[in-house]
Amino acid sequence: MSKESPNQPECPLGGADGDEDDGPLDRRGFLKLAAGVIAAGYAGAIGYPVYRYIASPVEQAAMAAAVTEVTLDNALSLPLNSSLIFKFGTTPALLIHHADATFTALAAVCTHLGCTVNYNPDKKVIFCPCHGGIYNAETGANISGPPPKPLKQYQVTISDGKVVISRA
Ligand code: FES
Repeated sequence: MSKESPNQPECPLGGADGDEDDGPLDRRGFLKLAAGVIAAGYAGAIGYPVYRYIASPVEQAAMAAAVTEVTLDNALSLPLNSSLIFKFGTTPALLIHHADATFTALAAVCTHLGCTVNYNPDKKVIFCPCHGGIYNAETGANISGPPPKPLKQYQVTISDGKVVISRA
């Protein structure tokens, strides 16, 4: 007696009889394809964040280096003896409007461990809140605390009523 019924339709993925070689996509081929698709999905899900994590510092450095000038539209109205933080490329920068109406622009990244520094109008210095580093507000020179180097200074020009900051 035969195992198959003569009226049973043929399965396109291979029959239920264990014969896996017939048909355009047999069961083994289908499982390999499905496993490949799932593996590719996992590789993408894991690989893309890893790629972004590795590539980001390189991309950020390239973007930061590409920016050579920043225009601040309303900075002329900054009150005397005050400051504002702005982005120069991808890093924070500090514009100080001194009491004598002059401007100083500096990188606002502490040279110790990279915290963002701020202007203290009472003491007229730049301070780092992380470990107490102090910088000169006009030159960016490191005065006290752990910072090993001065802050990077930018050039400030006034053009068409706007403050333009550029790499010195
Ligand atoms: S990070 Fe600024 S003093 Fe340490």
